[in-house]
Amino acid sequence: MNSWTLVYESFDPPQEKLREALCTVGNGYFCTRGAAPESRADDVHYPGTYLAGGYNRLETQIAGRTIENEDLVNLPNWLPLSFRIQGGDWFNLQGVKIHSYRQTLDLKQGLLQRSIRFEDAEQRITLLEQKCLVHMGNRHLAALETCLQAENWSGKVDFCSALDGRVVNDNVERYSDLANRHLEPLAAQQLDEETLLLKMRTNQSRVEIAQASRTRIFIAGAAQTPERSLDQQDDYIAQQFTINLEQGQEARIEKIIALFTSRDEALSECGLEARTAAARAGCFDDLLKGHALRWKHLWRRFDINLEEANGDKGERNKMILRLHIFHLLQTVSMHAIKLDIGVPSRGWHGEAYRGHIFWDELFIFPLLNLRTPEITRTLLKYRYRRLDEARAAARESGFRGAMYPWQSGSNGREESQEVHLNPKSGNWIPDNSRLQRHVNAAIAWNVWQYFQVTDDLEYLCFYGAEMILEIARFWSSLVQWNEEIERYEILGVMGPDEYHDAYPDSDQPGLNNNTYTNVMAVWVLSCALETLEVLPENRRQELCEILGLKEDEIERWDHISRRMRLVFHGEGLLSQFEGYDELEELDWESYRQKHGKVMRLDRILEAEDDTPNRYKCSKQADVLMLFYLFSAEELQTLFERLGYDFDCQTIPKNIDYYLARTSHGSTLSQVVHSWVLSRSDREGSWDLYAQALRSDIDDIQGGTTPEGIHLGAMAGTVDLIQRCYTGIETRNGVLHLNPCLPRELMSLCLQLHYRGQLLTLRITQEKMKLTCQQCEIEAIRVAYGEQEYRLRGGETLEMNLCSKECP
Ligand code: BGC
Repeated sequence: MNSWTLVYESFDPPQEKLREALCTVGNGYFCTRGAAPESRADDVHYPGTYLAGGYNRLETQIAGRTIENEDLVNLPNWLPLSFRIQGGDWFNLQGVKIHSYRQTLDLKQGLLQRSIRFEDAEQRITLLEQKCLVHMGNRHLAALETCLQAENWSGKVDFCSALDGRVVNDNVERYSDLANRHLEPLAAQQLDEETLLLKMRTNQSRVEIAQASRTRIFIAGAAQTPERSLDQQDDYIAQQFTINLEQGQEARIEKIIALFTSRDEALSECGLEARTAAARAGCFDDLLKGHALRWKHLWRRFDINLEEANGDKGERNKMILRLHIFHLLQTVSMHAIKLDIGVPSRGWHGEAYRGHIFWDELFIFPLLNLRTPEITRTLLKYRYRRLDEARAAARESGFRGAMYPWQSGSNGREESQEVHLNPKSGNWIPDNSRLQRHVNAAIAWNVWQYFQVTDDLEYLCFYGAEMILEIARFWSSLVQWNEEIERYEILGVMGPDEYHDAYPDSDQPGLNNNTYTNVMAVWVLSCALETLEVLPENRRQELCEILGLKEDEIERWDHISRRMRLVFHGEGLLSQFEGYDELEELDWESYRQKHGKVMRLDRILEAEDDTPNRYKCSKQADVLMLFYLFSAEELQTLFERLGYDFDCQTIPKNIDYYLARTSHGSTLSQVVHSWVLSRSDREGSWDLYAQALRSDIDDIQGGTTPEGIHLGAMAGTVDLIQRCYTGIETRNGVLHLNPCLPRELMSLCLQLHYRGQLLTLRITQEKMKLTCQQCEIEAIRVAYGEQEYRLRGGETLEMNLCSKECP
């Protein structure tokens, strides 16, 4: 392994689905899991192709009711390319003796490769080499090259190249009782000697999907024209052909596919476009060249260069970070700019969480903001386009403004499931996660952060401000005035910790005064007030008129932002929610002894007829999210505004308290905890960082990554390097830097985009150097400690860092 390549050197069937997810290739428009082209969905393999934002809804009768789920649809499988030698069995890795095996994902070029030397039952030894890509330049194209070399035999080889629409959604076992047939056939035809077309349609959202495949055959570089026979069904089409191989000869099969849908722009009919694109596409090598060039450009913008003290481990960590950037860019690349998509928590890499959009953007956008803010802008528009749906949701629940859903899909209605299955107990349990209203604060936060990094006032004027104001209005309608204590409260919600969705023994879901939610509501309201000040006068007036926003409502926002209730217990401890301190302590040790991993403590307890609602235990950071999002100074300001004392010295105490009670049942958890510990407990922080890095590559949750990567944790680990270790904060028009490298890191170097300027930032344990590339726009403001500087294109700021020990 080097720092650019993920390598597997043996075939390991139980690991295959994990590898398929990790070796997914995609371009932000569609993604294809890294499944063996000869494989079908079974116990070992799960080929899957997903269109960004390609959803469909189906109804199922379950637990005595009809429920409707919206899923990311598994599209027809374009990969199938199988072969058999001398009329023997069709190639199957489990039916041959493997002499050597090597699968590599080349992150630099975006290329998945497989090289297998095998021996069949007749002692024939064959070398199979394959390359697969989903084109980063032309988003509609993908290509598979297969080379087969007869080492010690001569004879006939039959090949079969297919487009298979018989697929269903079957990647997640927990969903297996739910309806899963999303596609209906429209057309399957042979367009010409080398081209097949398959056209299907999703049966509810009625998106038409067309795939055209062009298969060409070469022996020793010369094109071949064997006779092709056709297998044509409604939802499957294949060509078979036979070639003769002499000992030592190599056959090369190129399968190029074009994928279009009825949602594409600049389109007549998707079948027609697919056919034209397949015919026009260059050969595999040409496609690879163009594709690799696009990746080169992406890496120029996104790479992070780190030097770790521990060489070997360091190389592996660097590779994992690159793998994380790689999957982020395959999910939301530059192609996203043309699309109406959000950023799915599990990538377009599998079917877990049904491709839905959660609050995970909060962990993803900061990375994109400082690299390609254009992508964040487009992803934020996904939210803007669903503002009316969020307004309707607020109205229907008796609130005002906009209430965005916890899980969002096609049109922005609430997509959280009503019941979920505990695989451990087999029980279907009511799912109250939709009470996580804090997703609204995350959306406002994301808009504001984007604005802080880019200074894109036009975006704020025409899209962002409206969302912030409507979300502020929602919070203002949600709070209740408590006469007794003369403070506002938020009742009946859930915080980020999904283990707690109700009080023990209560039959009503929801908790009161979740600290994270209350503070974030205060932040949103203050941000809305600031937004009104930042907007140019005419736009402010327009928006206030459109929204019917009057002075008295603005005054109420101000009042709430000064009188929200926060609950504490013990000296300076913020309570996760009101009543948290009365919950029982969990005997962590005995649960660990009994169950080993306790990440999914909720499932363990439910299976024992118990519930985490009774205990002081969290799935992930909740209160501590505040220290992840805000600096101590910012929190101080917020608390002062509320009239509460806040002593920064209590931060470590809060961290210790909640960290000891967290099971890290979400991969986001390690990222946040590593972040909040980065200045006070560098070893502890590095340890959690190392765990967060392993989340997907080692599938530390035991079975979740095969169902899709965890994009929040992937981006979060990169952002730990980008913003946490550099101490970057973007506030009030200033880029604040406060580097503090973990001891294990000797140096890091990265490129940043800030307010139109391209910056190169180099940090070692002792020094920092910030270079602003030549650019004739206004100087940017940069601060280190109390000192502020102005930096113009072509200038460099260099300084010794105050102390090796971080403050
Ligand atoms: C976490 C949520 C997260 C979701 C999607 C859940 O397990 O608890 O915070 O948004 O996964 O990643």
